[in-house]
Amino acid sequence: MVLNESQKSLLKQHEALLIGKWITDLSNTSAFIMSEMKDLNWAGFYLLEGETLYLGPFQGKPACTLIKVGNGVCGTAVKEVRNIIVRDVHEFPGHIACDVASNSEIVIPMKAKGKILGVLDLDSPNVGRFNQEDEAFLSVLVQQLIEKNIF
Ligand code: SME
Repeated sequence: MVLNESQKSLLKQHEALLIGKWITDLSNTSAFIMSEMKDLNWAGFYLLEGETLYLGPFQGKPACTLIKVGNGVCGTAVKEVRNIIVRDVHEFPGHIACDVASNSEIVIPMKAKGKILGVLDLDSPNVGRFNQEDEAFLSVLVQQLIEKNIF
């Protein structure tokens, strides 16, 4: 999918924020997403250790601290190694509700050298907030993070 000019400009700004320190970069990336994308109530990372995703840097209300692989949208994205867009979280079997304000969600697994490092997770109060353009944009953003941190 071709990115639009506004997405390209945001990706340039994001690239300039990265310094190659994993937790530092994840922290600023979550803040960057929250400040630049509309209609979000949560943006952040879960980091994979063994069969568990642990809460990482994020913006938004306090969230579930751990999610088993296979559980919820995040655990399903890891288990099935795929991006997931959920139009209405109430229709996703096993969705884990961390913030009752969330109505739609997008999860992008972070992969490097065939290993999953964790996921990027965004929540919105709007049903159907996320589309394939967001998926394409966020996938490049995750790639920038991984390349700068050379996993
Ligand atoms: N809804 C997620 C849990 C994490 S929160 O949205 C921050 C899930 O079902 O995996």
